[in-house]
Amino acid sequence: MSNKERLFDLDSVKAVVTGGAGVIPGAQAEALLEAGAEVCLWGRGTGHPVQEAVDRLADSCDAAGRVYGVTVDTGDEAAVERALDETLAQMGPPTVLINGVGGNRTKAAFPETDVALFEQVLVMNVMAGLVIPTKIFSRYWIENKLKASIINIASMASYIPLSGVSAYGAAKAAVMNLTLANAREFAGHGIRVNGIAPGFFIGHQNRALLIKDENTGELTDRGTAIIEHTPFGRFGDVTEIKGTTVYLASDKASGFVTGVTIPIDGGYLTYNV
Ligand SMILES: NC(=O)c1ccc[n+]([C@@H]2O[C@H](COP(=O)([O-])OP(=O)(O)OC[C@H]3O[C@@H](n4cnc5c(N)ncnc54)[C@H](O)[C@@H]3O)[C@@H](O)[C@H]2O)c1
Repeated sequence: MSNKERLFDLDSVKAVVTGGAGVIPGAQAEALLEAGAEVCLWGRGTGHPVQEAVDRLADSCDAAGRVYGVTVDTGDEAAVERALDETLAQMGPPTVLINGVGGNRTKAAFPETDVALFEQVLVMNVMAGLVIPTKIFSRYWIENKLKASIINIASMASYIPLSGVSAYGAAKAAVMNLTLANAREFAGHGIRVNGIAPGFFIGHQNRALLIKDENTGELTDRGTAIIEHTPFGRFGDVTEIKGTTVYLASDKASGFVTGVTIPIDGGYLTYNV
């Protein structure tokens, strides 16, 4: 095997991808499988059934026997503990955790904030999307003296407030802050914690916010404004998340990298930070 292959070879890696039936985490799971890892998809089972995603990836990545699924609400601590036990029984000890759960639910001027919905978005992105899985996995890794890597999913909204989505922005700013805090705290245990900050990709949840007419591809005003502020002049393609995912998952490629969040944004932040 050449040096080039060795750096990005994940043959001995086992990973859990939360939200693994979703668009971005699904592409990340695919990237890990293509690099040789074993992957367990975790998802809530509503909306995007986990087993369907497992079957699809087993087929498209020629990964039958290397891809597993667990149905779990990652916002429920006891359920996450059970899901880790189930994963250990299926696959053995994972040493990569991709915290892929997250998304937006609401867009409103601040005075019109629906407080209950605001809280749901915080809970989904911060508690289900990071705090609870990271707590359970880090405790397991520390107790078992395992070196590991966590990849969180931030957003452009982690850096700058995007109009009308203050709950999402507050939550994603917390994700970036916790990436730094966890990286510092876990470094002595050999656990790296990094993040990816996707620019704008068409996901299940933001589709209607960005595309006005699916037939013609006509964009909403928000979609148009985003493209105007993206030097590459287009939305991202989820396959463009794959390389950074493999890099951050691979100890050989990024073993001294921790606490960073890497934007994958077609240059969006060059105009906005
Ligand atoms: N699409 C984008 O442009 C974009 C940009 C920046 C960041 N992100 C972030 O990327 C991540 C994935 O987004 P996506 O666009 O692929 O969304 P998605 O909706 O396609 O994927 C998210 C998945 O998480 C699952 N999920 C939600 N809550 C859960 C819970 N409590 N327990 C278990 N599963 C749960 C959903 O069912 C879904 O399958 C999110 O954190 C999102 O904020 C997306």
